[in-house]
Amino acid sequence: MTTPHSQAATLRTTLEDYNYHYYVMDDPKVPDAEYDRVFRALKALEAEHPELVTSDSPTQRVGDRPLDEFSQITHRVPMLSLDNVFNHDELMAFDKRLQERLVKQRDVEDVEVVDPIEYVCEPKLDGLAVSLMYEDGVLTQAATRGDGQTGEDITHNIRTIDSIPLKLRGEGYPAVLEVRGEVVMPRAGFAALNAKAEAAGEKVFVNPRNAAAGSLRQLDSRITASRPLDMYCYSVGYVEGGDLPGKHYEILQQLNKWGLKLNPEVRINTGAEDCSKYHDYILNKRDELDYDIDGIVYKVNDLRLQDMLGFVSRAPRWAIAHKFPAQEELTTLLDVEFQVGRTGAITPVARLEPVFVGGVTVSNATLHNMDEVQRMDIRIGDTVVIYRAGDVIPKIVKVLLDKRPESAVAIAPPEQCPVCKSAVVQEEGEAVARCSGGLYCHAQVKEAIKHFASRKAMDVDGLGDKLVEQLVDLELISTVADLYRVSAESVAQMERMGDKSAQNLIKALEDSKKTTLPRFLFSLGIREVGEATALNLANHFGTLDAVKEADQEALQAVPDVGPIVALHIGEFFSQPHNVEVVQSLIDVGLYWDEIDIDHSQEKPLEGKTYVLTGTLTLMARDQAKGYLQQLGAKVSGSVSKNTYCVIAGESAGSKLAKAESLGVSVITEQEYVVLLGEYGIEVAV
Ligand code: IVH
Repeated sequence: MTTPHSQAATLRTTLEDYNYHYYVMDDPKVPDAEYDRVFRALKALEAEHPELVTSDSPTQRVGDRPLDEFSQITHRVPMLSLDNVFNHDELMAFDKRLQERLVKQRDVEDVEVVDPIEYVCEPKLDGLAVSLMYEDGVLTQAATRGDGQTGEDITHNIRTIDSIPLKLRGEGYPAVLEVRGEVVMPRAGFAALNAKAEAAGEKVFVNPRNAAAGSLRQLDSRITASRPLDMYCYSVGYVEGGDLPGKHYEILQQLNKWGLKLNPEVRINTGAEDCSKYHDYILNKRDELDYDIDGIVYKVNDLRLQDMLGFVSRAPRWAIAHKFPAQEELTTLLDVEFQVGRTGAITPVARLEPVFVGGVTVSNATLHNMDEVQRMDIRIGDTVVIYRAGDVIPKIVKVLLDKRPESAVAIAPPEQCPVCKSAVVQEEGEAVARCSGGLYCHAQVKEAIKHFASRKAMDVDGLGDKLVEQLVDLELISTVADLYRVSAESVAQMERMGDKSAQNLIKALEDSKKTTLPRFLFSLGIREVGEATALNLANHFGTLDAVKEADQEALQAVPDVGPIVALHIGEFFSQPHNVEVVQSLIDVGLYWDEIDIDHSQEKPLEGKTYVLTGTLTLMARDQAKGYLQQLGAKVSGSVSKNTYCVIAGESAGSKLAKAESLGVSVITEQEYVVLLGEYGIEVAV
């Protein structure tokens, strides 16, 4: 017989299972709507029968009132730190040290010593170490690392993190099990959180680690619940009343079976050379990951060997952190200059005392706009924190106010364009100030021409930035169409050019005349019309004339074109000067093949559900999704028997496996591009 009590228990088990698949395994079992339905059903049942509410119920993650203060918790087993190595040689020396130590001890103890040593390699996550105490499988206490001996009780906040189970799954767990790991804020969530804070005029966080720390340091768990946090577990602490496997890797797998999240990059490697290869592999992948890492941790896999190696002061001998180059450094702001971009946007650029950060020496950093300069109250002479990750443009993230010298100089916004002296205007509600000089401004003309010639636009080989600058400064060209009228003789006169390179450039210009409509539209540099939008416009309208003549409504019918983009397109083609330049380009001989658009076939994929998975290399995921929707298909995040087809990119994982097990058809990204071609959609690859 079903009683409210058994009903509540069933709903809870179902939700816990959905949660596990969604947050821990990254592989949703059901659509979000179904999860919501079950969640609401449990909430309703608990409201009707308050006596049925349990503290580990999925409805009880967020507390309803703030705490007065944090209490301290003494760790039953101290939370240690790690020693570091900074390069390959130091890693080799670490491994050698361990081998020698183990060989010496082999004579004393009766353990077979394996050579080479097996290590578990894990990304060193750049977040906050936490300890989770499970008693009889129920999360009873969570604490920060603190000084390693004592931390703060953050149970109320930890409970709001969806990837942390309030109750362990399955069975066989020790009566008391302390799980340790790192709480991180994913980069995407961090960016969204900061964007929201900025829009509201609030303080932004310097980096995801600070944001994660700030989120866990809340007395009110409702604030923490609103922050995007995740946790990966990496070890166990105190254990009582039960046994764990004898290898670190197996312990991690066991924790995962009990419902805790593991980092997907964790691997076993044998010998230091393979560890080093893993380091290089992850370092290369660093920018693609959705969370910050600051190195690799290598841990001896066999717990008996760990025991033999023991500890030195506060770090284990059996593990080491291999640190990546720092992504944040301190330096001095020497000056601020203003640059004028293609659309006249005036950007303050910081000139810095050169500093080695993120693997390169940085001497410039963008400051985005004057609002940002004012928000940070940055002054010339200030000591600043500079952040550089991967290919991202270096950024000033913080000013150290207590290091400000008395001589520091405030930065005044320019009233005139630094290049053409036209007035600087700032539209209401816009953060960006712009030069009003338009095509009178040499800076804007230069940027427009550089964009026109760039690889993804007209792809004119050999037309470098310096050459464009000289040609404009000497007034040999003032529009993109003029490029096709310059003579080899005048080009040959430019600095660092000769007859041969001038001839080559003229030939490259000639070759660029055969182009495609998407490239041509992109090359015009219409505001907010990037590559993907240009492609959508071309595929939708088929001809340049149709784009030119389209009204606002027609423009907004194009995928990804909203009112603002439509307005920019309309404005561009309403300016006689632009129409003239476009016409001159056609007059000098630019041409492209027509695109067939068959309107009778507009929604050939109507009623079919597609799923995209894995890494796409030929197009952005949004673009891939946009085309499917344009053709009438539905795009879903999870595979079920109702899925019509799965498009699998590189290293597709569980969704691909599921499709295969359900007999759902699977195509590669290349096959998808061919399919799009059949429907008249051309993808620039
Ligand atoms: S193991 C005794 N594994 O690094 C070993 N730590 O300096 C204790 N960390 O406070 C830590 N990722 O916050 C371990 N995969 C990982 C880690 C990791 C990040 C942090 C952790 C700890 C610090 C040690």
